[in-house]
Amino acid sequence: MKAIVVSHLKKYYRVHQKAPGLLGSLRSLVKRQYQTVKAVDDVNFQIEEGELIGFIGPNGAGKTTTLKCLTGLLYPDSGFVSVLGHTPWKRDSQFLKQIAFVMGQKNQLWWDLPPMETFLLNKEIYEIPGPQFHQTLEELVELLEVGEVIKVQTRKLSLGQRMKCELIAALLHQPKVLFLDEPTIGLDVVMQKKIRDFIKIYNQKYQSTIILTSHYMGDVKELAKRVIIIDQGKIVFDGQLEEIISRYADHKLISVVFNKKVTKRELKKIGRVKEFNYPRASLVVKKEVASLAASELLKSFPVEDLNIEEPPIEDIIRELFTGKDYA
Ligand SMILES: Nc1ncnc2c1ncn2[C@@H]1O[C@H](COP(=O)(O)OP(=O)(O)O)[C@@H](O)[C@H]1O
Ligand SMILES: [Mg+2]
Repeated sequence: MKAIVVSHLKKYYRVHQKAPGLLGSLRSLVKRQYQTVKAVDDVNFQIEEGELIGFIGPNGAGKTTTLKCLTGLLYPDSGFVSVLGHTPWKRDSQFLKQIAFVMGQKNQLWWDLPPMETFLLNKEIYEIPGPQFHQTLEELVELLEVGEVIKVQTRKLSLGQRMKCELIAALLHQPKVLFLDEPTIGLDVVMQKKIRDFIKIYNQKYQSTIILTSHYMGDVKELAKRVIIIDQGKIVFDGQLEEIISRYADHKLISVVFNKKVTKRELKKIGRVKEFNYPRASLVVKKEVASLAASELLKSFPVEDLNIEEPPIEDIIRELFTGKDYA
């Protein structure tokens, strides 16, 4: 069964525009100028129950706005959305009890109290039966290793500890659908990995449907097989992550280690020099000519070691966004 169906979803913002300078300010007092931002512009996708998908795109692409429409925080301009058969913006309690929305940049934990107090509050709000509450809490605390942390005043916790507790607060009522908006933002690499591992385990263990937005490719690469890419309010790709690589990667990366000095100028004859830091260099070349370029390097340069690689997924995505020819 489909957990989420989104059809022709549109959300436009009307923003007040002011010309620069004092004159602009004065003018805008007299006659307000508005501009329409098409934050979500005819978006369509469907998500199966139990799927974990990566929802990615550059800053301002429309990710958060989409999630707000899907969780009922925003009323869209037009379109159809169904989450577990509910219309989100009606916000009926049966819907709210089955979803969770975690935003990396916002917190729901009470700042001056230990996280445990927020957990207890949520127990009441969501009417979670005592035994179920304690069992779920115990499981989550163990998975996230925050036994002591939940008793400490929230304001005294590190960002990572706080995010772990935010996740617990959002998951205590065992939601079927999770919306995670940049859950690893601002975290150090180690903590990012911990949160990521948790999301993966959680998805497998509870078969919950998860939409994860992130601008860290690491998150998406590790977690999601399917990605939906949004740019300027429009879906530009929806499919398997591997497919992006084969469809869009029309170039290869040649990494070389030299055993004698070479100049960047000489290397430029072979391909675009992406990095040059003696003794190492990496070159970008068109896929069709990769082996030719490699043999040319071996023939004419003091090569110690050489590897032909797929370009990193980050590069491919960036290329997709900018639409520029990479090689
Ligand atoms: N409340 C708002 N009022 C006006 N414009 C907004 C508002 N929220 C977001 N936007 C604009 O809508 C676009 C999409 O924003 P957002 O959904 O936050 O993108 P993302 O989460 O992908 O970074 C951006 O151009 C942003 O500036
Ligand atoms: Mg956002």
